[in-house]
Amino acid sequence: MPISNPKRYTVTAALIYANGPIHIGHLAGCYVPADIYVRYLRSSGKEVAFISGTDEHGVPITIRAKKEGLTPQQVVDKYYEQIDASFKALGVSFDVYSRTSKPVHHETSREIFRDLYDKKVFVEETTEQYYDETAQQFLADRYIVGTCPVCANPNAYGDQCERCGSTLSPLELKDPRSTLSGSKPVLKATKNWYLPLDKMQPDIEAYVNGHSEWKTNVFGQCQSWLKDGLKPRAMTRDLDWGIKVPVEDTDGKVLYVWFEAPIGYISATKDWLIQKNGSEEGWQKWWQPGKDAAEGETKLVHFIGKDNIVFHCIIFPAMLMAEGNYILADNVPANEFMNLEGDKISTSRNWAVWLHEYLEELPDKQDVLRYVLTANAPETKDSEFTWKDFQTRNNSELVGIYGNFINRAVVLTQKFCDGKVPQRGELQEIDQAALADLAAFPGKIAESMENYRFREALSLIMDLARTGNKYLADTQPWHAIKTDPGRVNTILNIALQISATLSIVSEPVLPFTAAKIQDQLSISGKNWQDAGDADLLAVGQPVLEGKLLFEKIEDSVIEKQVQKLHDAKRLNELEGKTVAPVKAEIQFDDFAKMDIRIATILEAENVPKSKKLLKLLIDIGSEQRTVLSGISEHFKAEEVIGKKVLYLANLAPRKMMGMESHGMILMAEDRDGSLAFMQPGKDVWNGGTVN
Ligand code: MF3
Ligand code: ZN
Repeated sequence: MPISNPKRYTVTAALIYANGPIHIGHLAGCYVPADIYVRYLRSSGKEVAFISGTDEHGVPITIRAKKEGLTPQQVVDKYYEQIDASFKALGVSFDVYSRTSKPVHHETSREIFRDLYDKKVFVEETTEQYYDETAQQFLADRYIVGTCPVCANPNAYGDQCERCGSTLSPLELKDPRSTLSGSKPVLKATKNWYLPLDKMQPDIEAYVNGHSEWKTNVFGQCQSWLKDGLKPRAMTRDLDWGIKVPVEDTDGKVLYVWFEAPIGYISATKDWLIQKNGSEEGWQKWWQPGKDAAEGETKLVHFIGKDNIVFHCIIFPAMLMAEGNYILADNVPANEFMNLEGDKISTSRNWAVWLHEYLEELPDKQDVLRYVLTANAPETKDSEFTWKDFQTRNNSELVGIYGNFINRAVVLTQKFCDGKVPQRGELQEIDQAALADLAAFPGKIAESMENYRFREALSLIMDLARTGNKYLADTQPWHAIKTDPGRVNTILNIALQISATLSIVSEPVLPFTAAKIQDQLSISGKNWQDAGDADLLAVGQPVLEGKLLFEKIEDSVIEKQVQKLHDAKRLNELEGKTVAPVKAEIQFDDFAKMDIRIATILEAENVPKSKKLLKLLIDIGSEQRTVLSGISEHFKAEEVIGKKVLYLANLAPRKMMGMESHGMILMAEDRDGSLAFMQPGKDVWNGGTVN
């Protein structure tokens, strides 16, 4: 059963692997919704701890280190800094952004492991695991790939198939191979500690089934897991990067990253208190009812992406249940994925919009990104980010509706009311209707927020801005001023009250903009309970002119971004290609033997049944010749006719496809394998020699 009306909230956002920068997919899936929720809670006067940090262990880190030629420590240090800074710049308001490499995390994880070990929760088992003899290492999780037994994806990982989402163990893979050396691994015996999820299934089932209010995608995924029957899962790994197993004689073993990473939420809470108060004292009220907090007083909510559902809804709760003192998640509002310009976001293919680059290239547009990612959030199904949509939402929604309304209210107040909140006079029906709308919006928006429907909340927020625009359009203060200045005072008072509430209810999504509006309206310290109030702004309060809240985004700006995406992807595809080494030395005489000269292609046709050959007739000054050239995958016959080229004239004739080819056209091969003609820099006559 969900907790209603808790006293405080422990809100976590996934501890992302510190093995690469943040992209918009991470933001849309987890961090922006988490921040909106937390900002809403704080504004509603709730006590909140907003917890996150980086996950610095596990195979993803060591694989990245190998790729970048760094140590794992260097990798996590580099990305921790970058990720932390870009979250701050986007206004993601974590109370603490911790790291799983901190001593407090090592200690907390080892304590919990040891506790479960002492309670004999784990099943100790010696099994045969894959081992790479070349690399002299056991192959856990992502160190091993093979064919998925469920969907036949040939590149499934040892822990998970990214195509069908199945959770796997390395032994289930067909044709396994090591990602370290590419070799076929051998089986070798090793001892590990397993969490007996099979035996724990009834308790987990009771927990999950008690939460039928969870989002359908989340609840559904849990049900399918439970239906398949849970299997024991190893909580230790034979690796050297990670947290040492707190049991004697376990050299070369570390805690499974998915055992310790979620414990990171607990240790990050302690880290927060240590940073704030110099001691971790008081952490229990965020995690353990019965000590500093009563049962049902603290509500735990995990924000994650959909690939993390099983770990947060089944494995971590199972661990905490076995420990016995902890609260379990009340909700896990996982989002689906956001795609980008028609393709899946992918770090390895470099198809992503990176947050740190966005912040640099589009400065002061944090709220635009937050807005677009929320308006388009993959809450119930995958969604899509396109730069065109980004531009449209900015120009027609943020500039056209929201910014336009606030700007009109402020500018008209400057113009007609001396830059001060005017006094309302007698109300007409239209004014009463506007104030009734104003009073009703915050409650509706709050309900969407409470239920993790942030898209809906945002669309209501925009409806409030539309209400304001419509009110001004209907009441036309710019006409009324000529005949009835008192009427204008009423209209602008109401428009300003709407603006003030709009700033409060949109603050969770648009914190930078809300702060600017509140500066303009000279209000501070107002929060959700003030929203909707017809007298939020006092009469006479100054209304200051401000800069425009949003600016139009031109076509050239987004065209550049789209181009950049494609360039980055292409560059990535080329990565790893190297320039050929210089061939063995020759003498000038060797070179002088070659007769290279200028020629013009006169005719060209495809050679029937050949994939590669074009048959060319060329003019070499002294005569015409036939050359078979292997370029038809790169050029169409008609596009090469008339080209002036460099031609090796004294190469012995060769027979191909039953025809004789004389000499050779010289071509340059580009990095991506595409070909270019070698051409003289001026219109040299046919037969001109190259030397
Ligand atoms: N590091 C994981 C990822 O990036 C998420 C870990 S969430 C936590 O997918 F629960 F383990 F902290
Ligand atoms: Zn699969």
